[in-house]
Amino acid sequence: MIVLGIETSCDETAAAVVASTGAGPRILSNLIQAQLVEHSAYGGVVPEIAARAHLDYLETIVTAALSEAGITLPELDAVAAAAGPGLIGGLIVGTMLAKGLAWAAQKPFLAVNHLEGHALTVRLTDEVDFPYLILLVSGGHCQLLVCAGVGRYSRLGTTLDDAAGEAFDKAAKLIGLGYPGGPAIERAARRGDPFRFPLPRPLKGRPGCDFSFSGLKTAVRQITAERRLDPHDRADLAASVECAICDALIDRTANAIGWFCREHPAGRTLVAAGGVASNGRLRQQLAAISESAGLRFVAPPPALCTDNGAMIAWAGLERLRCGLVDSLNSSVRPRWPLDATAPPRPGAGVKA
Ligand code: KG4
Ligand code: ZN
Repeated sequence: MIVLGIETSCDETAAAVVASTGAGPRILSNLIQAQLVEHSAYGGVVPEIAARAHLDYLETIVTAALSEAGITLPELDAVAAAAGPGLIGGLIVGTMLAKGLAWAAQKPFLAVNHLEGHALTVRLTDEVDFPYLILLVSGGHCQLLVCAGVGRYSRLGTTLDDAAGEAFDKAAKLIGLGYPGGPAIERAARRGDPFRFPLPRPLKGRPGCDFSFSGLKTAVRQITAERRLDPHDRADLAASVECAICDALIDRTANAIGWFCREHPAGRTLVAAGGVASNGRLRQQLAAISESAGLRFVAPPPALCTDNGAMIAWAGLERLRCGLVDSLNSSVRPRWPLDATAPPRPGAGVKA
């Protein structure tokens, strides 16, 4: 099976062609056009600018993804696009092009949940079996879920306020490190002392698997308001922020591992996905807690943790294999939690 995937839910215009072969899954092409220049002056993503940029870039990226893969439209088995959660303008641009291509080629269209794309990527990269526990951490989402099968997710916990990536981005902005904040903080943190600034670890030590990061942002704001930071201070504060966010993520994930090992004794794997899962410190610490619990730790390579087209193509392919195709009349869903039975929370696919 060969599927074209289109991703336009935030500020990356991306397209990829992914195949499942007798020898396992393969990425035939995976192209991405980031919109750093467009948004950097604003310190965050501006929805209207993002939608217009997707419109400018998308056709070129899709054409290039097909040609790099050496695949023509009639050779595809389906066309998939992220249909939510995310910024509505971008979602409309991506799904409209995907529907047009699917209609022209008379192939099935797949409306993919962007979060399912992140959640299933390890089955593309490492062929991980269900069930697995996943820490899904990105700019808009921060949750712990059990992945029991394609389309079958149960949420153990989520953030009550900001997502982990949002905490990185807001802290980076306050420290003056630019956007996107996660990679900038990770770079600066390498030269810094993670114990110089005592920052809060919200909910640490409490039962349950929920997260909270707004107190951390307030603490960083106080520090940056009180003093003029020199480069040395900036590195120390970046290292302290990275350490605090990782500590909080690890504490909550450890609780989830305890529950997962009791309730799903057949489960063998802890997975991390989403942009924040490309953070080296977090990956090291997750690997360590997995090992002590007797679980394997798997995270996609960093380029497949941040938003990309291959994750959408792959989730589309998995859904196609299950017969879960969508109508050309289906709408985009700016809010779209993976676990519809869990109470709505901001960091779980319901924040538009
Ligand atoms: O998954 P993603 O590309 O987009 C969303 O679906 O939100 O995640 C982007 C987020 C941003 O908040 C970015 O700052 C964060 O992931 N991020 C990182 C790193 N790389 C990206 N956070 C910490 N360390 C990193 N190396
Ligand atoms: Zn994402």
